[in-house]
Amino acid sequence: KNIVILISGSGSNMAAIVRAAERRHWADRYGARVVAVISNKAEAGGLGVAREHHIPTAVLDHKGFASREAFDAALMTEIDRHDPALVVLAGFMRILTPGFVQHYEGRLINIHPSLLPAFTGLNTHQRAIDMGCRFAGATVHRVTSELDHGDILDQAVVPVLPDDTAKTLAERVLTQEHIMYPRAVEKLLA
Ligand code: GRF
Repeated sequence: KNIVILISGSGSNMAAIVRAAERRHWADRYGARVVAVISNKAEAGGLGVAREHHIPTAVLDHKGFASREAFDAALMTEIDRHDPALVVLAGFMRILTPGFVQHYEGRLINIHPSLLPAFTGLNTHQRAIDMGCRFAGATVHRVTSELDHGDILDQAVVPVLPDDTAKTLAERVLTQEHIMYPRAVEKLLA
């Protein structure tokens, strides 16, 4: 079961999944391995982490394509070289076309830093603070062509503390993401 992970940034969730795969012996238990990490940004910090773990990486810069459809077609070609059973979005900051989503239906998941269905889109932590939310969190969900929708696979909840800034709240949530996302992936593999 080949796992392909898509990132755009620091890739800390990707790293958490890669470490879980090693530590929990996903190869032996489920015949599963992370076979590629693909980024739309060459400067994504996560690429270095992937290389340290000897995972093949690829960069596909969306700016080099005339349309979203053209980028997604190239991305699909790159992903499909690895014959994935699971495509994991981990901080991949691109909206995907319906064609892409349909192509990976049933094997495409994402993590979003809010308690969905609240706060789809960007800037989730500041919006939760501004609304006076007492709790925040993150959601692992299946990907559908509607942004940040799709069946919920797991959620993690953290308190919003009186002195929180978007940064301190994001850190608290991210710590939980690193626990929840590998666990959600493992559940799917099992
Ligand atoms: C995470 O908060 C994730 O929920 C969101 O983007 C962030 C990615 O962080 N989609 P990282 O690249 O995994 O460190």
